[in-house]
Order: sequence, then C-alpha cells, then structure tokens
Amino acid sequence: MRLDKFLCEMNIGSRSQVKSYVKQGLVTVNDVIAKAADVKIDEFHDTVIYKGKPLKYQRYHYYMLNKPQGVVCATQDNVSRTVLELLPKELRKNLFPVGRLDKDTEGLLLLTDDGDLAHRLLSPAKHVDKTYLLQIAAPLSSADCRALETGVDIGEDTLTRPAKVEILGEKNCLLTIHEGKFHQVKRMLKAVGNEVTALKRVSFGGLHLDETLNSGAYRELTDSEVKLLHEK
Ligand code: URA
Repeated sequence: MRLDKFLCEMNIGSRSQVKSYVKQGLVTVNDVIAKAADVKIDEFHDTVIYKGKPLKYQRYHYYMLNKPQGVVCATQDNVSRTVLELLPKELRKNLFPVGRLDKDTEGLLLLTDDGDLAHRLLSPAKHVDKTYLLQIAAPLSSADCRALETGVDIGEDTLTRPAKVEILGEKNCLLTIHEGKFHQVKRMLKAVGNEVTALKRVSFGGLHLDETLNSGAYRELTDSEVKLLHEK
C-alpha cells in the first residue's frame, strides 16, 4: 500500500495533508524518515510512526457512542443533528450507525465502516441480544412480564420472540430482545397496555455501554470487543 493511502486510512488527514506531513519529515517507516508519500509500505509488518506515535494498521474502524436524545441515527439529515456529527470530521469517513435507535432513545450505538460485520449483526437470523433500560408509565404485573417473555402482538405477522424482563423498580426495568423491529420496545410495552417514558440501550451483541462515556461521547472499541462482535 502507498504510504499516503495508509496515512489517510489511519485518519491522519486528507491526501494533501498527509503528503505535506511526509514532506515535513513527520513520518518514519522502520525508523527512517519517509522521503516520499508514494513509497510502498507493508501495512501489516512495517512500523510507521507519525509525530512519534506508532500507527497500527486498521482496515476497519469501530466506535461505541453513548447516543444522546435528540440526534438521529443517520449519516445525513436535513433537519436534525446526526450521530456522526458527534465525531470529529476526520473520523467520520465511511462510518455509519449499526442499526437505529429512535431520536428520543439514548445509549449504546455502534459506528463502523465494516459493512459485512454490520450486516451480520443486523441479520434477523443472528438474533443478536439487545438490552434496554426502560422507564415506564406504570408498574408491570407478573402477567405483563409473562406476556413480554412469551411474545406479544405488535401488529406484525408473528408475535415478538420471547424476551427477558428484569424488574428494577416500580417503573424501571431491563428488557432484552433478540429482534430489531421498528420501535419494537415501545410497541411491546404498548401491547401490554403500558408506555415507555424513557429508553436507553445498555448492551448490544455482548457489548456493554461504557458507563464512563458521558452522553454524546464515544470511544474506539478495544481489540477484545471487536473480536467479540466478529464471533457473533
Ligand atoms: N425500540 C424502540 O422502540 N426504540 C428504539 O430506539 C429501540 C428499540
């Protein structure tokens, strides 16, 4: 791979910016200052250092975002702020949200440029677990819990798949589902005569929302988190 392409893929800057960094002598390849941006490097084995920082090659990028309310899960929107706008411009290239959370839902959202992985995680055949923290209008009866755990009619061809309910308080619970139908959690609670008053996703495909992330903050996934998702 050409050095300038590598630096661009590592989000160091645009093609012209990285060319200028190389010209300024800010990039070394195997401890030798790179003389030209078009030299070929072995992205898997060569050691490329930019401003003293070693760059580990990454074909794809994976971020966990603590989505705040009021932003939409889209790459572009004419009216509302998008989740991508919460990341700096240089990191946004080719990223997209894996699935959707409603505008008023907060919590764990994965952003990536790895289309294959996203496709697999969203495939109905995979039944990836998603856990939501709910605030609800009224307490759930044991009959409501049983119904949610067995399957409820949300107006689709079939009942929802069995879910898991964990009561946390009078008007708080965790709900784990294995599907991702439009407004699914809100529709499930409606089906048992209740109403979701606040919704936060706390886990997705075995990943847990990093509680150190403030609302609107993001971080890169760790290698073990990426591995976990690839094992799904
Ligand atoms: N279910 C919903 O109703 N809304 C979401 O944002 C996610 C799941």
